Amino acid sequence: MYNLLKGKRGIIFGALDEHSIAWKTAERVHAEGGTFVLTNAPIALRMGTINELAEKTGSQVIPADATSLEDLENLITKAQEILGGKLDFVLHSIGMSVNVRKKRHYTDQNYDFTHKGWDISAVSFHKVMQTLYKQDAMNEWGSIVALTYMAAQRSFPDYNDMADNKAYLESIARSFGYFFGNDKNVRVNTISQSPTPTTAGSGVKGFDGFIAYAEKMSPLGNATAQDCADYTVSLFSDLTKRVTMQNLFHDGGFSNVGVSKEVMEKFMEE
Ligand SMILES: NC(=O)c1ccc[n+]([C@@H]2O[C@H](COP(=O)([O-])OP(=O)(O)OC[C@H]3O[C@@H](n4cnc5c(N)ncnc54)[C@H](O)[C@@H]3O)[C@@H](O)[C@H]2O)c1
Repeated sequence: MYNLLKGKRGIIFGALDEHSIAWKTAERVHAEGGTFVLTNAPIALRMGTINELAEKTGSQVIPADATSLEDLENLITKAQEILGGKLDFVLHSIGMSVNVRKKRHYTDQNYDFTHKGWDISAVSFHKVMQTLYKQDAMNEWGSIVALTYMAAQRSFPDYNDMADNKAYLESIARSFGYFFGNDKNVRVNTISQSPTPTTAGSGVKGFDGFIAYAEKMSPLGNATAQDCADYTVSLFSDLTKRVTMQNLFHDGGFSNVGVSKEVMEKFMEE
């Protein structure tokens, strides 16, 4: 390890279990010398195994529903008290579609479900940043990252309303990135990650076929959760100080491939 995050403090949202992208990121940030508070929705804290991660990384856990401003205000105030100062990095690794969960087709949405999923998966990113901004909780040259998926740009039928949520999330990164950059020299980016076998990922219908297809389409293969953790650390480090307002594809090249030899060969099979 390289001590890339030595002396840096932050908050990591979304570690549910050891498969979570946020879990791998927390382990990697810890290895690079960063300190942080872990957070998740109260119900996820009951169902998941986050205490194990907290112990391993010497972190405290503060429950927060990312759609609740009150919870976020409490979280961000307490995190600064616990860590001993303003924050240098924040990871938003949160996503949930009630329509997907309840198996409602994209053409037959329940709009209460749509609204809830949008609030959790997209607007929560704005709420997190607005709370950080109002509390002036970020240090200069800090870095904020959220995770997204390419269904924001291209259609993937089974991704359902999460596609729209991700498009909104990416737009928030650009819009808030402008103000955070101008006013506080803080950068805001989204990482557009390969399909990854986690609780959220596996909830998408036909996920196994989907991940196998992406693997065959990507010259470097699918990026794993561990790879994503490494990439996120680079964005939290001082080595990427002027990267902001970007949607960064982290997908082994998938997003720029029209067709691959392997996928062609599948169609040539008798
Ligand atoms: N897995 C994939 O294929 C994939 C691909 C691209 C992007 N992503 C994105 O990566 C991020 C992390 O997902 P993951 O794949 O690690 O799955 P995960 O299920 O491990 O993580 C999702 C997290 O969101 C949390 N969450 C849900 N509702 C919440 C709320 N109201 N308040 C606070 N937290 C809440 C869950 O408790 C969970 O910890 C998500 O934004 C997801 O959309 C995942």
